[in-house]
Amino acid sequence: MCGIVGYIGRKERAQDVILDGLRRLEYRGYDSAGIAINHGDELRVVRTLGKLLNLESALRDVPLVGAVGIGHTRWATHGRPSERNAHPHRVGTVALIHNGIVENYLSLAKELQSAGCELTSDTDTEVIAHLIYEARKSGAGLIEAVRETVSRIEGSYAIAVIDERESDRIVVAKNGGSPAIVAPGDGEAFLASDIPAILPYTRQMIPLEDGDIALLRAESIEIFDAAGTRIEREIRRIQWDPVRAEKGGYDRFMQKEIYEQPRAISDTIGARALEEQGEIDLDGIELDPKWVEELRGIHLIAMGTARHACLIGADIFERAARIPATVDFSAEYRYRDPVVGDRHLLIPVSQSGETTDTVVAARAGRERGARTLAVCNTQDSTIARECDDVLYTHCGPEIGVASTKCFTGQIVALYLIALRLGRLRGTLDRGAVREAIVDLRRLPRLVERALQSWNAIEQVSRRYAHFSNFLFLGRGLGYPVAMEGALKLKEISYIHAEGYAAGEMKHGPIALIDEQMPVLLVATGSPTYEKVLANAAEARARGGIVIAIADEGNTEIRDYADDVLFVPPAPEPLSAVLATIPLQIFAYQIATLKGTDVDQPRNLAKSVTVE
Ligand code: AGP
Repeated sequence: MCGIVGYIGRKERAQDVILDGLRRLEYRGYDSAGIAINHGDELRVVRTLGKLLNLESALRDVPLVGAVGIGHTRWATHGRPSERNAHPHRVGTVALIHNGIVENYLSLAKELQSAGCELTSDTDTEVIAHLIYEARKSGAGLIEAVRETVSRIEGSYAIAVIDERESDRIVVAKNGGSPAIVAPGDGEAFLASDIPAILPYTRQMIPLEDGDIALLRAESIEIFDAAGTRIEREIRRIQWDPVRAEKGGYDRFMQKEIYEQPRAISDTIGARALEEQGEIDLDGIELDPKWVEELRGIHLIAMGTARHACLIGADIFERAARIPATVDFSAEYRYRDPVVGDRHLLIPVSQSGETTDTVVAARAGRERGARTLAVCNTQDSTIARECDDVLYTHCGPEIGVASTKCFTGQIVALYLIALRLGRLRGTLDRGAVREAIVDLRRLPRLVERALQSWNAIEQVSRRYAHFSNFLFLGRGLGYPVAMEGALKLKEISYIHAEGYAAGEMKHGPIALIDEQMPVLLVATGSPTYEKVLANAAEARARGGIVIAIADEGNTEIRDYADDVLFVPPAPEPLSAVLATIPLQIFAYQIATLKGTDVDQPRNLAKSVTVE
């Protein structure tokens, strides 16, 4: 959950490249930041508590000149946010940055202390720096010292190391759920946790695999396995558009990404919906009709917002393809010893493709024989690379920590898979798929129409920004939408919000309802709409305030709600996409009114790469 960046080249611009890269990775964590630069045979390290701004101001008066360097922005795991726990960690001539967790650091720390080493931080990372320096003192070269050290680490790591006595190189090592990419430039080389950091400098990248150790020099990148054997890794072309990765004139990334949903949906549908033929093309993913016929079940695994998309996906799979579908928190899936095998399709859903819980759960499913088909937004990410197949959402980079366009993109991608499976199992005929495709093609314009309520929703959100608790209720597909709306509000405004099945209200939550607990109710057209109206009446009968999400043209809803956020009507499951839009905007506006850091909310990170 931290961001790592490194640069080596002919020009003495390491500090500029690193700070720019850290700015682009700050969504991965921002408890502290630091940089280490080799200038000739002098290694200098500067670290500051808090956001990158503090490091930038510390360097303004005393810039670090040099052509080799590494930088880090931290999300604290071991050791509270502080300057002494910030990376890079320096030991002797060595400086190191790390994203991940050293699970056996306590035993390594004890060993180092009994050898007379003095640990100066509370972090797990520091032990790695000490082990490398001890190996260097015994005569090992930098890459040998790293190889020796990582062979003793249990856990996940993406590390980058420089040494003032070998100042013409950077060594990078990767294992477990911590991503690392290296990239060749013209007489320079780059390393980073994620693509945005290197996007302005190169269109090529090499995603490192578990166990890889890379040696970066200005003119070359060499990659070795744990035994020290040179390996070849394919150089991939980065397809991201740099302009899109910027804010594009919006106040915040989250606002930009809410507005990008029509395009994200349209790009995710892309050329996959073959209206004429009444078929779906999943980018050529081969699904044998007999195997699909004999499928015993679909397991969807994800965390957070992606899991809410899975809940909608499971409903779609069962309706369209009549296949039993289950949804698990990835963090729970592996530990519940699931009944899964070669007659199951396991679908990990992940925007980043690096969520460790989902990476590990997908591996567990694969080990048990499941066919894995990832829904992912990040090209060549760990989940994308390790699954048998991947259907990418084409939402473009999602920088705001709160996921918005990728949620709706994931629903669309899951719908496409369900339509394909329905055709293969014969539960959907061409006509039904053709109809679904027509609805899908209309969806971007309907979302655009829903976004036009931005100002109307702002008026409503002003009336509710002072409340401290909210209840989000829905039935059927409205239930995962309610949970997603609650998650958006709580994660960016720090207001307590719970998503509940509306039918569950009378079994407990109704005790919470009074004039201090506004209820957001998903009341768009659905088979359970009448029951949702009854829930609205029950809430109001107890003094509750109801804000309803309802279809345009619904004239009765105002008798059941204090405020109404209207959306264009659409058939299920696409109505779930539309009902989500006002909830995203409501959360964004309340958080903005509260002055929280909407793109980088406290305690969070965009990609949770620790279990
Ligand atoms: C959603 O707004 C949160 N940022 C979080 O729940 C996120 O959806 C979750 O961590 C999963 O991330 P992923 O899609 O990258 O796997």
